[in-house]
Amino acid sequence: MSQTLLQVKDLKVAYGGIHAVKGINLEIKQGELVALIGANGAGKTTTLKTLIGMVKPSDGEIMFNGKSTAKLHAYDYVRHGLVLVPEGRGIFSRLTVEENLQMGAYVRDDKAEVAADLERVYGLFPRLKERYKQLAGTLSGGEQQMVAIGRAMMSRPKLLLLDEPSMGLAPIIVQKIFEIIRMIAAEGVTMLLVEQNAKLALQTANRGYVMESGHVTLADSAANLLANEAIQKAYLGE
Ligand SMILES: Nc1ncnc2c1ncn2[C@@H]1O[C@H](COP(=O)(O)OP(=O)(O)O)[C@@H](O)[C@H]1O
Ligand SMILES: [Mg+2]
Repeated sequence: MSQTLLQVKDLKVAYGGIHAVKGINLEIKQGELVALIGANGAGKTTTLKTLIGMVKPSDGEIMFNGKSTAKLHAYDYVRHGLVLVPEGRGIFSRLTVEENLQMGAYVRDDKAEVAADLERVYGLFPRLKERYKQLAGTLSGGEQQMVAIGRAMMSRPKLLLLDEPSMGLAPIIVQKIFEIIRMIAAEGVTMLLVEQNAKLALQTANRGYVMESGHVTLADSAANLLANEAIQKAYLGE
Protein backbone atom coordinates (compact mmCIF):
# COMPACT_ATOMS: atom_id res chain seq x y z
CA MET A 1 0.00 0.00 0.00
CA SER A 2 1.66 3.22 -1.02
CA GLN A 3 1.79 6.29 1.13
CA THR A 4 -0.68 9.14 1.04
CA LEU A 5 1.04 12.19 -0.44
CA LEU A 6 -1.82 14.66 -0.45
CA GLN A 7 -4.91 14.76 1.67
CA VAL A 8 -7.48 17.51 1.28
CA LYS A 9 -10.19 17.65 3.92
CA ASP A 10 -13.41 19.68 3.68
CA LEU A 11 -11.68 22.39 1.68
CA LYS A 12 -13.64 25.56 1.05
CA VAL A 13 -12.50 28.51 -1.03
CA ALA A 14 -14.34 31.77 -1.69
CA TYR A 15 -13.57 34.86 -3.71
CA GLY A 16 -15.42 37.50 -1.74
CA GLY A 17 -18.99 36.27 -1.80
CA ILE A 18 -18.42 33.70 -4.57
CA HIS A 19 -18.04 30.19 -3.18
CA ALA A 20 -15.84 28.46 -5.73
CA VAL A 21 -14.98 25.33 -3.72
CA LYS A 22 -17.59 24.13 -1.25
CA GLY A 23 -16.01 21.53 0.99
CA ILE A 24 -14.10 18.97 -1.07
CA ASN A 25 -12.10 15.91 -0.06
CA LEU A 26 -9.27 14.55 -2.20
CA GLU A 27 -6.56 12.03 -1.57
CA ILE A 28 -3.55 11.26 -3.73
CA LYS A 29 -1.11 8.47 -3.04
CA GLN A 30 2.54 8.43 -3.93
CA GLY A 31 3.00 7.53 -7.59
CA GLU A 32 -0.62 8.02 -8.63
CA LEU A 33 -1.81 9.94 -11.66
CA VAL A 34 -5.16 11.41 -10.73
CA ALA A 35 -7.48 13.28 -13.08
CA LEU A 36 -9.78 16.07 -11.98
CA ILE A 37 -12.53 16.70 -14.48
CA GLY A 38 -15.57 18.95 -14.58
CA ALA A 39 -17.27 21.69 -16.57
CA ASN A 40 -16.04 25.26 -16.85
CA GLY A 41 -16.43 27.08 -13.55
CA ALA A 42 -16.61 23.87 -11.48
CA GLY A 43 -13.72 25.00 -9.27
CA LYS A 44 -10.82 22.96 -10.69
CA THR A 45 -8.35 25.81 -11.18
CA THR A 46 -9.25 27.26 -7.79
CA THR A 47 -8.51 23.88 -6.22
CA LEU A 48 -5.06 23.73 -7.85
CA LYS A 49 -4.25 27.33 -6.93
CA THR A 50 -5.21 26.62 -3.33
CA LEU A 51 -2.96 23.56 -3.26
CA ILE A 52 0.08 25.73 -4.04
CA GLY A 53 -0.94 28.57 -1.73
CA MET A 54 -1.84 31.09 -4.44
CA VAL A 55 -5.34 31.26 -3.00
CA LYS A 56 -6.10 30.86 0.70
CA PRO A 57 -8.85 28.50 1.79
CA SER A 58 -11.67 29.80 3.96
CA ASP A 59 -11.98 26.43 5.68
CA GLY A 60 -10.61 22.91 5.67
CA GLU A 61 -7.17 21.40 5.66
CA ILE A 62 -4.46 20.45 3.17
CA MET A 63 -1.97 17.84 4.31
CA PHE A 64 1.09 17.26 2.15
CA ASN A 65 3.43 14.47 3.17
CA GLY A 66 1.56 14.25 6.46
CA LYS A 67 1.96 17.93 7.32
CA SER A 68 -0.47 20.81 7.09
CA THR A 69 0.49 23.39 4.45
CA ALA A 70 -1.38 26.17 6.28
CA LYS A 71 1.78 27.84 7.58
CA LEU A 72 3.87 27.54 4.41
CA HIS A 73 4.98 30.75 2.71
CA ALA A 74 4.47 31.20 -1.01
CA TYR A 75 8.15 30.44 -1.72
CA ASP A 76 8.08 27.21 0.34
CA TYR A 77 5.76 25.27 -1.93
CA VAL A 78 8.20 24.63 -4.77
CA ARG A 79 10.88 23.71 -2.25
CA HIS A 80 8.50 21.15 -0.78
CA GLY A 81 7.82 19.76 -4.23
CA LEU A 82 4.32 21.13 -4.81
CA VAL A 83 4.48 22.58 -8.29
CA LEU A 84 1.80 23.93 -10.64
CA VAL A 85 1.96 24.14 -14.41
CA PRO A 86 -0.71 26.82 -14.76
CA GLU A 87 -3.46 27.19 -17.30
CA GLY A 88 -2.04 29.26 -20.15
CA ARG A 89 1.47 27.95 -19.30
CA GLY A 90 2.93 31.09 -17.69
CA ILE A 91 6.30 30.92 -19.38
CA PHE A 92 8.67 33.88 -19.69
CA SER A 93 8.31 34.76 -23.35
CA ARG A 94 11.35 37.09 -23.48
CA LEU A 95 13.67 34.48 -22.02
CA THR A 96 15.15 31.63 -24.01
CA VAL A 97 13.99 28.05 -23.67
CA GLU A 98 17.00 27.18 -21.54
CA GLU A 99 16.62 30.26 -19.33
CA ASN A 100 12.99 29.27 -18.72
CA LEU A 101 14.07 25.76 -17.73
CA GLN A 102 16.76 27.17 -15.42
CA MET A 103 14.09 29.28 -13.70
CA GLY A 104 12.48 26.05 -12.55
CA ALA A 105 15.59 25.24 -10.54
CA TYR A 106 15.92 28.63 -8.86
CA VAL A 107 15.23 27.21 -5.40
CA ARG A 108 18.01 24.64 -5.77
CA ASP A 109 21.70 25.08 -5.01
CA ASP A 110 22.92 21.64 -6.18
CA LYS A 111 24.46 22.90 -9.43
CA ALA A 112 25.79 19.58 -10.72
CA GLU A 113 22.42 17.88 -10.27
CA VAL A 114 20.61 20.81 -11.86
CA ALA A 115 22.81 20.33 -14.92
CA ALA A 116 21.97 16.62 -14.94
CA ASP A 117 18.25 17.41 -14.64
CA LEU A 118 18.50 19.81 -17.55
CA GLU A 119 19.82 16.96 -19.68
CA ARG A 120 17.02 14.73 -18.38
CA VAL A 121 14.42 17.34 -19.40
CA TYR A 122 16.06 17.63 -22.83
CA GLY A 123 15.80 13.84 -22.99
CA LEU A 124 12.04 14.10 -22.43
CA PHE A 125 11.78 17.01 -24.87
CA PRO A 126 14.36 16.67 -27.68
CA ARG A 127 12.48 19.47 -29.43
CA LEU A 128 13.48 21.87 -26.65
CA LYS A 129 17.11 20.84 -26.87
CA GLU A 130 17.11 21.77 -30.57
CA ARG A 131 15.67 25.16 -29.66
CA TYR A 132 17.39 25.91 -26.40
CA LYS A 133 18.48 29.40 -27.48
CA GLN A 134 15.16 30.41 -29.00
CA LEU A 135 13.01 32.99 -27.19
CA ALA A 136 10.15 31.08 -25.59
CA GLY A 137 7.58 33.59 -26.85
CA THR A 138 8.37 32.60 -30.44
CA LEU A 139 7.66 28.88 -29.92
CA SER A 140 4.47 27.10 -30.99
CA GLY A 141 1.78 26.45 -28.36
CA GLY A 142 2.81 22.82 -27.98
CA GLU A 143 6.46 23.75 -27.54
CA GLN A 144 5.51 26.38 -24.97
CA GLN A 145 3.59 23.72 -23.04
CA MET A 146 6.73 21.56 -23.16
CA VAL A 147 8.72 24.47 -21.71
CA ALA A 148 6.15 24.90 -18.93
CA ILE A 149 6.21 21.20 -18.03
CA GLY A 150 9.98 21.03 -18.41
CA ARG A 151 10.42 24.03 -16.12
CA ALA A 152 8.27 22.33 -13.49
CA MET A 153 10.35 19.15 -13.84
CA MET A 154 13.48 21.19 -13.12
CA SER A 155 12.24 21.78 -9.59
CA ARG A 156 11.99 18.01 -8.97
CA PRO A 157 8.31 18.00 -8.13
CA LYS A 158 6.87 15.49 -5.68
CA LEU A 159 3.37 16.42 -6.75
CA LEU A 160 2.99 17.97 -10.16
CA LEU A 161 -0.28 19.82 -10.76
CA LEU A 162 -1.21 20.33 -14.40
CA ASP A 163 -3.99 22.76 -15.33
CA GLU A 164 -5.43 22.09 -18.79
CA PRO A 165 -2.17 21.14 -20.50
CA SER A 166 -3.94 20.34 -23.77
CA MET A 167 -5.84 23.62 -23.98
CA GLY A 168 -5.69 25.24 -27.41
CA LEU A 169 -3.42 22.61 -28.95
CA ALA A 170 -3.95 20.69 -32.18
CA PRO A 171 -4.95 17.02 -31.68
CA ILE A 172 -1.58 15.63 -32.75
CA ILE A 173 0.21 17.91 -30.29
CA VAL A 174 -2.25 16.94 -27.55
CA GLN A 175 -1.24 13.30 -28.12
CA LYS A 176 2.40 14.30 -27.79
CA ILE A 177 1.77 16.16 -24.52
CA PHE A 178 -0.08 13.15 -23.09
CA GLU A 179 2.77 10.89 -24.17
CA ILE A 180 5.06 13.14 -22.12
CA ILE A 181 2.67 13.02 -19.15
CA ARG A 182 2.84 9.20 -19.30
CA MET A 183 6.65 9.31 -19.42
CA ILE A 184 6.75 11.59 -16.37
CA ALA A 185 4.36 9.26 -14.54
CA ALA A 186 6.61 6.33 -15.45
CA GLU A 187 9.48 8.19 -13.76
CA GLY A 188 7.44 8.02 -10.57
CA VAL A 189 6.24 11.63 -10.35
CA THR A 190 2.82 11.89 -8.72
CA MET A 191 0.39 14.05 -10.68
CA LEU A 192 -2.97 15.75 -10.44
CA LEU A 193 -4.22 16.47 -13.94
CA VAL A 194 -7.02 18.93 -14.65
CA GLU A 195 -8.34 18.50 -18.18
CA GLN A 196 -11.13 19.59 -20.50
CA ASN A 197 -10.31 16.54 -22.55
CA ALA A 198 -11.86 14.24 -19.96
CA LYS A 199 -11.64 11.14 -22.11
CA LEU A 200 -7.93 11.40 -22.71
CA ALA A 201 -7.35 12.36 -19.06
CA LEU A 202 -9.23 9.30 -17.79
CA GLN A 203 -7.51 7.06 -20.33
CA THR A 204 -4.20 8.25 -18.91
CA ALA A 205 -4.98 8.45 -15.18
CA ASN A 206 -5.30 5.76 -12.50
CA ARG A 207 -8.19 7.47 -10.73
CA GLY A 208 -10.41 10.44 -11.20
CA TYR A 209 -12.52 12.98 -9.37
CA VAL A 210 -15.48 14.77 -10.88
CA MET A 211 -16.23 18.33 -9.76
CA GLU A 212 -19.56 20.09 -10.21
CA SER A 213 -20.14 23.64 -9.01
CA GLY A 214 -17.65 23.48 -6.18
CA HIS A 215 -18.39 19.93 -5.03
CA VAL A 216 -16.71 16.62 -5.72
CA THR A 217 -19.63 14.55 -6.95
CA LEU A 218 -17.82 11.37 -7.88
CA ALA A 219 -14.52 9.67 -7.13
CA ASP A 220 -13.59 6.37 -8.72
CA SER A 221 -11.02 4.47 -10.73
CA ALA A 222 -10.44 5.97 -14.16
CA ALA A 223 -11.75 2.75 -15.74
CA ASN A 224 -15.03 2.95 -13.81
CA LEU A 225 -15.49 6.62 -14.67
CA LEU A 226 -14.91 5.87 -18.36
CA ALA A 227 -17.55 3.15 -18.18
CA ASN A 228 -20.05 5.31 -16.26
CA GLU A 229 -22.99 6.28 -18.50
CA ALA A 230 -23.70 9.57 -16.76
CA ILE A 231 -20.03 10.56 -17.10
CA GLN A 232 -20.03 9.49 -20.74
CA LYS A 233 -23.05 11.70 -21.45
CA ALA A 234 -21.84 14.71 -19.49
CA TYR A 235 -18.10 14.75 -20.18
CA LEU A 236 -17.01 12.21 -22.77
CA GLY A 237 -19.18 13.26 -25.68
CA GLU A 238 -20.79 9.82 -26.03
N1 LIG B 1 -10.20 35.51 -9.21
C1 LIG B 1 -11.51 35.23 -9.11
N2 LIG B 1 -12.39 36.12 -8.58
C2 LIG B 1 -13.70 35.84 -8.47
N3 LIG B 1 -14.26 34.67 -8.88
C3 LIG B 1 -13.44 33.76 -9.42
C4 LIG B 1 -12.04 33.97 -9.57
N4 LIG B 1 -11.49 32.87 -10.16
C5 LIG B 1 -12.50 32.01 -10.35
N5 LIG B 1 -13.67 32.54 -9.92
C6 LIG B 1 -14.99 31.88 -9.94
O1 LIG B 1 -14.87 30.69 -9.18
C7 LIG B 1 -15.59 29.62 -9.82
C8 LIG B 1 -14.63 28.47 -10.11
O2 LIG B 1 -13.70 28.89 -11.12
P1 LIG B 1 -12.45 28.00 -11.54
O3 LIG B 1 -11.81 27.48 -10.35
O4 LIG B 1 -11.64 28.81 -12.47
O5 LIG B 1 -13.18 26.80 -12.33
P2 LIG B 1 -12.65 25.78 -13.43
O6 LIG B 1 -11.16 25.80 -13.41
O7 LIG B 1 -13.24 24.47 -13.04
O8 LIG B 1 -13.21 26.27 -14.72
C9 LIG B 1 -16.23 30.22 -11.04
O9 LIG B 1 -17.55 30.59 -10.69
C10 LIG B 1 -15.39 31.43 -11.33
O10 LIG B 1 -16.13 32.42 -11.98
MG1 LIG C 1 -9.81 26.20 -14.96
